[in-house]
Formats: sequence, C-alpha cells, structure tokens
Amino acid sequence: QGTNRDAWKRAASEAAASLVEDGMLVGLGTGSTAAFFIRALAKRMQEGLHIAGTISSSLASQELAQSFGIPVTTFEANPTLDLYIDGADEIDPQLNLIKGGGGALLREKIVASASRRFVVVADHLKLVERLGQSFALPIEVVPFATPLVKRQLTDLGANVQLRSKGETPFITDNQNMILDCTFAQGISDPAALDERLHHIVGIVETGLFLGMARQVLIGGPNGVQTLP
Ligand code: A5P
Repeated sequence: QGTNRDAWKRAASEAAASLVEDGMLVGLGTGSTAAFFIRALAKRMQEGLHIAGTISSSLASQELAQSFGIPVTTFEANPTLDLYIDGADEIDPQLNLIKGGGGALLREKIVASASRRFVVVADHLKLVERLGQSFALPIEVVPFATPLVKRQLTDLGANVQLRSKGETPFITDNQNMILDCTFAQGISDPAALDERLHHIVGIVETGLFLGMARQVLIGGPNGVQTLP
C-alpha cells in the first residue's frame, strides 16, 4: 500500500509540475506529496524551465528546494505568488481541506492566502465525505495559552491531544504548539467550527482550509484525476 500511495502522490505531483510556467513565483508546500512536487519542479528546471522564485511553507521544504538549486524569494520582494502547490490530509467534496499533519499549517495558510491559485496534490485515499472523519484537526496554539485552549476545545466536544515529538511537545517553525482534535461524528459544519475556533484567544490558526483550494489533482489506480 505504501509503495502505491507514493506512486499516486508522485503522479499527482508531476501533473502539478506541468502547471508551472516560465517566470512564475511558486509556493512550495510541506509533506511527502509536496516533496515529490519539489523534485518534479527541479527536474523541469533542469530541462529548461525558468521560474522567478519560490516561497516555502516550512523550513524543511525550503532546504529541500535549495538543495536542488531552486531559487528562493521573500514576501518583501514578492508579496503575491502565482501558484501554490501543496498536499492535504483530508479533502471533502467541496474541496475544503484539513491540513497540518506535518505541523506547517500556519505558514501553509499564509502562503495559500498570498497565492493567486492554490492547487492541492494528493492520493485518492485523502478524499472523504466529511472532514475530521479519519484525521484529527490540527490547531496551532501559543504555548503560554495551551492549557486554557485545551480546556475550551474539550468543552466544544473535541478529544484533544497535545502533539509530541518523543518525550517533548512538538514545536512548529513559528515556536508554537499543536493540539490535534478529534470530533466523534467528524466536523458537521466546518465553517461554523472555524469561526468559533478563531474566537478562542491563544489559537493562532486552524488546519481548516475552507474555500481556498481552486483545484485538486488526485493520483490513484486509474491515473490522475482533476477536481472539480
Ligand atoms: C503539512 O503540514 C500538511 O498540511 C501536509 O500538507 C499534509 O500533512 C500532507 O502530507 P503528506 O503529503 O505527507 O501526506
């Protein structure tokens, strides 16, 4: 299964790399699928594609890009990107997403919101009927507020886990913590939940990406499918 999933992720990522045109400013996502895209982009550049620069949603992706000689820019120099390609953890029929399995959700949302077009790359096992049905919703929290936020999320009906790395809490690229939240019935109204979460002081951002993805490229046993 693992090998198939990698092949599906790679196929979707290679299809996404063909969307990149000369002169574009490109957002680079985070995770195993985004890493396949970064490799596919590097290959296209070896074959003659010239892009204007990239901004990554994590330090890890930026390092990977730089290891291939992919040019890096900043929001100071380029506040708007042409195209952002990234993976997702769950995708619903409206192309709403859960992201943040890799812990990069805040920068991912920043890069997505700074991009004219956001295209998701994933394997077909990420498609769900309802968000939260199989993946916990990651929420990025200021460490000082974490115990308070955890209580409030529990009061909302979530089962809340502080994400850890070995014995210590996982710390994001922005020096925050992640609370992974599961809801017994999944998330019935993602917009209402997101609105409520944004009113809890100490929450920096949620892994709900609603109405942000323009397209999804899905790799599966029958090749790559484009949604919508
Ligand atoms: C990173 O924070 C996430 O949003 C990733 O996009 C997500 O976890 C997908 O990862 P894989 O491509 O490794 O499944």
